[in-house]
Amino acid sequence: MMSAFIDYVPSSAICWLAGWDPADAIQLYRWTVEVCEKAMHMQPGNAGSIAELVPAFGDYVEARVSERIGRGRSSWPDDGLTRLLTTEVDGETLSPTAVKTNLLFLLGAGSETSRDMMGLLLFTLARDPDLYTLIRADRSLLSSATQEALRLCSPTQFMVRRCQESVRIQGTEIMAGSIVYLGLASANRDEDVWEEAATFRLDRRNASDHLAFGAGPHVCPGTSLVRLEAKTAFNALFDRYAQIKLAQAGPFDPIATPMFYGPSSLPLHLTRG
Ligand code: HEM
Repeated sequence: MMSAFIDYVPSSAICWLAGWDPADAIQLYRWTVEVCEKAMHMQPGNAGSIAELVPAFGDYVEARVSERIGRGRSSWPDDGLTRLLTTEVDGETLSPTAVKTNLLFLLGAGSETSRDMMGLLLFTLARDPDLYTLIRADRSLLSSATQEALRLCSPTQFMVRRCQESVRIQGTEIMAGSIVYLGLASANRDEDVWEEAATFRLDRRNASDHLAFGAGPHVCPGTSLVRLEAKTAFNALFDRYAQIKLAQAGPFDPIATPMFYGPSSLPLHLTRG
């Protein structure tokens, strides 16, 4: 079900935004998985760019950017690629290399994470038929369900930072230069912030206070897109199926990349209605 339904939703959305053929979404998603797997083996000092990690992925994006630039500007369609090439910030546009890098990064950052988030929500609903029926009948609950899946399951489990200056946090000294793992998944289950932190609830007044998208100047810019993707995908699912159930009981096998969390696959029984 993951591969048939969810895997390609995020890369299809980005293809559509960029003005590329949605049929390329499957290959693009596979490249982003390859990037994640290879990136997990990088160490400080031997980091490679996305295009170096998976050259075919870099070539694909390069070809589309070059093709657009090679055409007369008057024929450029009004799509995301044209916006990236033409939008001025402080009087300057992005260089073609910066546009290519941003597109690779958007695909890399927005594919596995969003696919995992939707997989985690799908698992939550398939495990609890009453919850599925409730949200199917009242679609206004889908937004809270999405926030709660983000909080409880944290598709991005942690972020990494280098500490710029020594600091003491709750009695623990962190020295300047230390590499610090920020446990987003742990913060999202902080009992001081979340009542019944380990329970999936639709009635949280602080539902959107989770840190699944990070925080601060580098907070995820894809938050609205992923919520739109989830809304579109799950409404389509609710429209078509009266019930979904896990084909095998118990937990799912998680994907192999430790930074991200989501089902590697999710066999389901679907009942039309
Ligand atoms: C459920 C889905 C997603 C999750 C859980 C997620 C999570 C995150 C997190 C935790 C960060 C913060 C990184 C940091 O603080 O350094 C981040 C950054 C980022 N995300 Fe997402 N993301 C999701 C979807 C998306 C989508 C759909 C896109 C774009 C299509 C996207 C693009 C980015 C980019 C470009 C950054 C880097 C921002 C910067 O460094 O300034 N993400 N994301």
